[in-house]
Amino acid sequence: MVATDKIFSDFQEHSVAEFFKKNKQMLGFAGKTRSLTTIVHEYVTNSLDACEEAGMLPEITVVIAEIEKNNSYRVRVEDNGPGIPKKHLGKALGMMLAGTKFHRYAQQRGQQGIGAAGCTMYAQLTTGKPVRVVSHYDKKRIECTISIDFKTNQPNIETSAEEDTDGSEHGLVVDGEFADVKYDKSAYGVYEYIKRTAMANPHATITFAAPDGENLKFPRSVEEVPPKPKAVQPHPMGLSTHDIIDYAHHDAQSTRISSFLQNSFTRVSSEKVKELQAIANEVDFSKKPSELEWAEAEKIVKAIGKVKWIAPATESIVPIGKRQIEKSLGGILKPQFLEVSERSPKIYKGGIPFVIEVAIAYGGDAGRNSENGGSGKSGDIIRYANRAPLIFDAAGCALTQAVKEIDWKRYGIKRFEEEPVTVFVNIASVHVPYTGAGKQAISDEEEVTAEIKNTVMEVARRMQHYLHEIIKEKDRAGRRKVVERYLKQLSIDLADLAEKGKASELEEKMKKLIENKYPSLMGEGDEEGENGNGGNGKGEKEER
Ligand SMILES: Nc1ncnc2c1ncn2[C@@H]1O[C@H](COP(=O)(O)OP(=O)(O)OP(=O)(O)O)[C@@H](O)[C@H]1O
Ligand SMILES: [Mg+2]
Repeated sequence: MVATDKIFSDFQEHSVAEFFKKNKQMLGFAGKTRSLTTIVHEYVTNSLDACEEAGMLPEITVVIAEIEKNNSYRVRVEDNGPGIPKKHLGKALGMMLAGTKFHRYAQQRGQQGIGAAGCTMYAQLTTGKPVRVVSHYDKKRIECTISIDFKTNQPNIETSAEEDTDGSEHGLVVDGEFADVKYDKSAYGVYEYIKRTAMANPHATITFAAPDGENLKFPRSVEEVPPKPKAVQPHPMGLSTHDIIDYAHHDAQSTRISSFLQNSFTRVSSEKVKELQAIANEVDFSKKPSELEWAEAEKIVKAIGKVKWIAPATESIVPIGKRQIEKSLGGILKPQFLEVSERSPKIYKGGIPFVIEVAIAYGGDAGRNSENGGSGKSGDIIRYANRAPLIFDAAGCALTQAVKEIDWKRYGIKRFEEEPVTVFVNIASVHVPYTGAGKQAISDEEEVTAEIKNTVMEVARRMQHYLHEIIKEKDRAGRRKVVERYLKQLSIDLADLAEKGKASELEEKMKKLIENKYPSLMGEGDEEGENGNGGNGKGEKEER
């Protein structure tokens, strides 16, 4: 037997930075293409969050250049947001689990405080270089380099210039050199990522200079900054016993359980407390929250399930919105049919409100181009969380699963894999239930999955009606063509048989009969038709 003191002689503590250095794949740093998309994703989501929080229309420039002699790429992301004050600059980009979002209960793209520091880590691990940063914040310009001390998870910041400005310039520039990354135009690359970001963020102007010399510009098509989501308290529905105990034991202000419930959760009025008290009558609602016991919290949770609640306040969630989705998807895909859902917020575990937005586009450029380069299309699912595209881990994502589990035949789609259809799904929430720190897939929360399915089915029903009309019309057009094919000969033969009348007159009369029987909605020879939804996207000349 090994002496116990020997086993524990090597017991050590580690920092979160050391953990992610060893497990960088958890942050999305796995595979060269994915690693580059992850870097752009982290910087661009930060820029969008920062601009929106400051009430500014985002202007974001992404430049990627290949440094052949180093076998690496330089990535530079610049925004016109508020910048970062000197005091927080080092920790914002050089410390894991530090930021303005993790502790907040407000809808933003970032929520962990890891993204930017994760990129700094990847630059250090692959090129040994820190990231260069320029921050214009409140009449100050600071230029510095930032790296992480992995042992302590503390930032190393070296300031190279610091000056006062007139404040007209604002924003952040991050510039890093990364190896073990690759630029390509696959469905998983930066090009596709930026295109999808533009689709869901029509209020942002995004410029992209690619390493192959291509310059892309997605100008904004909407001139309003999305309304700022309000930070909210959790909704009582969906709270677990542990949640209630946790909130109660950390509530230093409320003197009674009754006031604690009103102060800590949204939609709990004094009336609701009375209803809860009547159901959980063994619990003393006048005792201190810090004295609440597990069995009592269990009874409160049960009582919450029996009371009728008002849905969470809608201002905590800012969905992209029907009009904006129509505008951007309509412009980019130019579909024949486009329909977008509009539903109220629901709640999942932990009392967290969320909204699912679904759009289905059919025809035009909808659908994914066939992998083998043919002209065929296959059904495409494009996923978003708080307007940020989810490109990877589709198989393990509740959004994909829910869409795939729909019985598409019922809605007129014979084989989803073979039709020009795009299903766009966005989850907007104050806390998106990601499956991992890489934030690329949504976990299978019962309430979330059910809501995705319901929303997709609601929109699919409307598409079914449209497809049904197309099928009917195609059928009519087919029959008409068959009859028309024999029309001339039939007129000649009939005139001949009857030995009177002119064949041409007969033909004219029969043409009229056919027109009455099979009126064409689509016009001569147009089999595809354009009887979509009043031209969403058609005629929109914008780039998105
Ligand atoms: N472009 C920017 N402009 C202003 N502030 C920024 C910018 N980028 C990052 N920050 C600040 O730095 C913090 C850390 O960013 P980081 O990406 O590491 O975490 P996060 O965005 O909070 O969460 P997540 O890990 O989910 O991305 C942010 O919370 C924000 O306060
Ligand atoms: Mg972030």
